[in-house]
Amino acid sequence: MTRPVHASIDSAALQHNLTRVRQLAPEARVMAIVKADAYGHDLLISSRALALADAIGLLELGDAIKLRDEGFTQPICLLEGFFEADEIPLIASYQLEPVIHSNWQLDMLESYQDELELSVWLKVDTGMNRLGFSPSEFKQGIARLSSMQCIKKVAIMSHLANADTPENPGTVKQLRDFIDTTESVSLPRSLANSAAILGHPDCQMDWVRPGIMLYGSSPFEESSADELNLKPVMTLQSRIISIKQCSKGDAIGYGGTWVCPEDMSVAVIACGYGDGYPRHAPAGTPIMVAGQKTQLIGRVSMDMITADLRGIDNAAVGSAVELWGVDISVDTVAKMSGTISYELLCGITARVERQEVNNG
Ligand SMILES: Cc1ncc(COP(=O)(O)O)c(C=O)c1O
Repeated sequence: MTRPVHASIDSAALQHNLTRVRQLAPEARVMAIVKADAYGHDLLISSRALALADAIGLLELGDAIKLRDEGFTQPICLLEGFFEADEIPLIASYQLEPVIHSNWQLDMLESYQDELELSVWLKVDTGMNRLGFSPSEFKQGIARLSSMQCIKKVAIMSHLANADTPENPGTVKQLRDFIDTTESVSLPRSLANSAAILGHPDCQMDWVRPGIMLYGSSPFEESSADELNLKPVMTLQSRIISIKQCSKGDAIGYGGTWVCPEDMSVAVIACGYGDGYPRHAPAGTPIMVAGQKTQLIGRVSMDMITADLRGIDNAAVGSAVELWGVDISVDTVAKMSGTISYELLCGITARVERQEVNNG
């Protein structure tokens, strides 16, 4: 028997979530964000399911080339641009669109003036204080790009710092600063991530850039994916590999942190932090065993976890287990583990096979 942990990736759910983006932002073009192996969902499975997106955004050059080689013809944006000058001819030959966020990148581009053609995105820093030209540097950045023979098209983007807390005034300020900074040039603009698509329609502009909502997770602490009509894409599944009959007082797993309050059965499940299940998931984290909801007990180890079988009478070795997905929200597991779904989804490790399913 092969180790039973795997992640099923529902292409119908990806398509449903893309349709949700289109409903919410009907005037905008959609750049589907598939960085970090499509947030852990497998680049190719996810990009094929999202093939109707108007563009693809990621930051790994090798993955962008893989998509071109697979026949993807849409614009492909490299969200951090290039890191070394010798990447520029390769980027141009694959017609990839790098984000230009710093003067050192403009310096490098200037040395390729006559040799190639490139479409680029200029990034403006409107308050994230991470990548991008400040509003005061913007005009000079645009002027330098406009003077270069090699630049075919320019679009502009900025990134929001607080869109996941809709009441935070920072988003309105970033939007205003983005408009004020860029209104003198008539170029396509992009600002909205998932949280802004859902919570700040005024940020939609020419292009939206959804990531997490495409994968069926909520960017908000207060609203569930279900309430937002998003369908979970990844279901992380495994099986029971052993059942222990424990007595009252028996301590379970490393550190003996969970002690059986009565005689009870305990399921041992093939999945641990070596697969990407969070080690910080506490006892009480929900888990689906043999079609019924129960709780994690004891510490998460590298390859195994343990679950409470009290009240679950049909569980047996081989019974199916859902760690998160259709029945257990990844957002709930993330919250209980003190993190966000982005980290859990991206953290699924290479030894977990991704299997495409279509539950449409
Ligand atoms: C530049 C950029 N745009 C869009 C996104 C998508 O964000 P989200 O997954 O919150 O929708 C990201 C993700 O961090 C990003 O870095």
